[in-house]
Amino acid sequence: MRTLKPQDARRIEALIGRMTLTEKLGQLTMMAASHTVTGPVITGHSVDDIRRGRIGNLLNLIGAAAAREMQRVAVEESRLGLPLMIGLDVIHGHRTLFPPPLAEAALFDPQAWALTAREAAREAAADGISMTFAPMLDVSRDPRWGRTIEGPGESAWVGERLAQAKVRGFQGTDLAAAESIAAVAKHFCAYGAVTAGREYASVDVSDRALLEVHVPPFAAAVSSGVAAVMPAFTDLAGIPMTAHGAMLRGRLRRQLGFEGVLVSDYNAVAELIQHGVAADLVEAAALALAAGIDIDMVSGAYLQGLPVALERGLVTLAQIDESVRRVLALKARLGLFEDPYRRGASAESAAAVAGRRRLARDVAARSIVLLTNREGALPLSTDIHRLALIGPLADAAAEMRGPWWSAADPEAQISVLTGIRAALPQAQIFHASGVEIVGADESGIAAALELCDEAQAVVLCLGEGATMSGEAASRAHPQLPGRQQELAEAVLRRAGARSIPVIAVLFCGRPLIVPWLAERASALLAAWFPGCEAGHAVADILTGRASPSGRTPITWPRAVGQIPLYFEQRSGGRPTDSGNTFSSRYIDESTEPLFHFGHGLTYGHFNLSCLRVTPESANPSDTVQIRVDVENQGERRAQETVFLFTHRLKSRVAPPLLELRGVGKITLDPGTRGTVTLLLPVMELQSLGPDLEPTLEPGAIEILVGPSAARASLLTGRLEIVT
Ligand code: BGC
Repeated sequence: MRTLKPQDARRIEALIGRMTLTEKLGQLTMMAASHTVTGPVITGHSVDDIRRGRIGNLLNLIGAAAAREMQRVAVEESRLGLPLMIGLDVIHGHRTLFPPPLAEAALFDPQAWALTAREAAREAAADGISMTFAPMLDVSRDPRWGRTIEGPGESAWVGERLAQAKVRGFQGTDLAAAESIAAVAKHFCAYGAVTAGREYASVDVSDRALLEVHVPPFAAAVSSGVAAVMPAFTDLAGIPMTAHGAMLRGRLRRQLGFEGVLVSDYNAVAELIQHGVAADLVEAAALALAAGIDIDMVSGAYLQGLPVALERGLVTLAQIDESVRRVLALKARLGLFEDPYRRGASAESAAAVAGRRRLARDVAARSIVLLTNREGALPLSTDIHRLALIGPLADAAAEMRGPWWSAADPEAQISVLTGIRAALPQAQIFHASGVEIVGADESGIAAALELCDEAQAVVLCLGEGATMSGEAASRAHPQLPGRQQELAEAVLRRAGARSIPVIAVLFCGRPLIVPWLAERASALLAAWFPGCEAGHAVADILTGRASPSGRTPITWPRAVGQIPLYFEQRSGGRPTDSGNTFSSRYIDESTEPLFHFGHGLTYGHFNLSCLRVTPESANPSDTVQIRVDVENQGERRAQETVFLFTHRLKSRVAPPLLELRGVGKITLDPGTRGTVTLLLPVMELQSLGPDLEPTLEPGAIEILVGPSAARASLLTGRLEIVT
């Protein structure tokens, strides 16, 4: 963290000297506001609590006028005039919605990740927001877990880069700028590994998994200067993260060097009672403060419990002051002392808003993953003039928002129906939902089938509703909900009988288990939740106006029983592919995924050849250059994505079969070729030894380069590490 200006440091010490205990606890408290037609209300409290210094921070306050009014009360009517920090979950956009993080991860493009965060920050700041509870950095290898959509997917390597880009985007180069907001890396740590993918359940992972998989994205956020961190709701091997001193004060602060603010998750301090580690709010507050939590989000435990905890000697005033100092330091870094009204001071220009929507359309189209495309079913033929658009997600504008919509207007989202109509103005578009997203009513299927008889092609829009992923949305059956499979099967039969293609577009917050659909649809796309420009982005891909380039950042299993399934697995002593009975496999299902990590087709046809590794023998100080030739043998201009993996052939700790080290992209016209160059600093090949300390082992390393983590698709080379 950048050091404070000397005058801010002096101001903070002077303030701490003057503050009453209540005023100090107010700074350590964040309460939820919600907006009514008559103005903001503060749940369970009143605006007078701001005036009396009992509330120093708010969340969920929407609109510049409301934010300004609350700020005015704090600054002009409270004794010390301390400004409020106002937080909100600006996860994938504020008023303009971009695709959620898992979908954005499919771009494998840190610049785009930073750009959408920057635009979201601008828009939120224009509404008086100074803090977002993002980025969410929980690596997830379990599609049952609903919050998979909020994070980077299965790879810590992707999580690290997403962390850096998002922190850069939200905070900018100057956190005090009117367009910058404080980022909160969440949820520390290993929330994505909840037992059986069940929301809020216990986490019990090895120290190795913690350090190899779950901590690195947070370490990247810290080294990028993230302003705040939020611990997870969950317990880690029995210790709730909200009270986990070893992880918060030890790992995060001492080892990773985090100096910012720790803000609890919603009501998490009081929930230490439910966890069974605190008898009452007094003990809960004392445990959280001792663990290093600076801000109590909404539970009121600090306000109510810490005065008693202080009397009982469970906490010290010095501990309280330490947290107050950190919170005030962040307010200073945000420029709130200089000008508490700088965010939200001026409305945005129409050009800025329009530019943001163009970005949303571009990013949404690039997040869509073309999973299958038989006999060139896509793009749709240019002379299509009768198209059937079927399914419960075809005309479902509000669902396109995905799990977090902040201040977005449900009416401002573009449905697929609207997008397709705009893209194909000459064509007749027949539309029927067939069935609801959930529910058992099949009465609409017959009418939907009739549309197949009129059309030249069918686009089936299937999947989950926006609230079926995200928080509190774990699914034991991550398949098509309701009667959508019945609808899809009936459409596939009817269209099949007439030999017209069926393009299935999935809207989902996780990989869905749909092997039957992947086998039978003419083309299958993962559109995730594309955000406000959904319909235009989907139409861009279907018509070929945009060429698909998204790659799945998470493995798609064929069966729930395969979960967790991910590319970084270790071989084991009886590997899956040893071809005999006593190998690591199932007797009733393949061990292969439905789609590998990184999978995604384009409208080109790429051939990779001639892998070069230079030098072939390298020292720790070297950077190895890996080059591969790429040729577009297809008929359309397209972008290929090339992944660089490594595999340590022998190591003191059994190595993963593949470790991601780099991603390159190249756009090529038909019939042209180019070279992708990836740089691999040898020190990045360090791994954690038996003692969990980073080590660079000498010896041979396989270099694997290709379009996905499917081993058969990878070119292999060799590198010798000499230490
Ligand atoms: C979620 C957090 C979120 C917070 C504030 C909690 O329920 O777990 O991710 O930032 O609410 O809305």
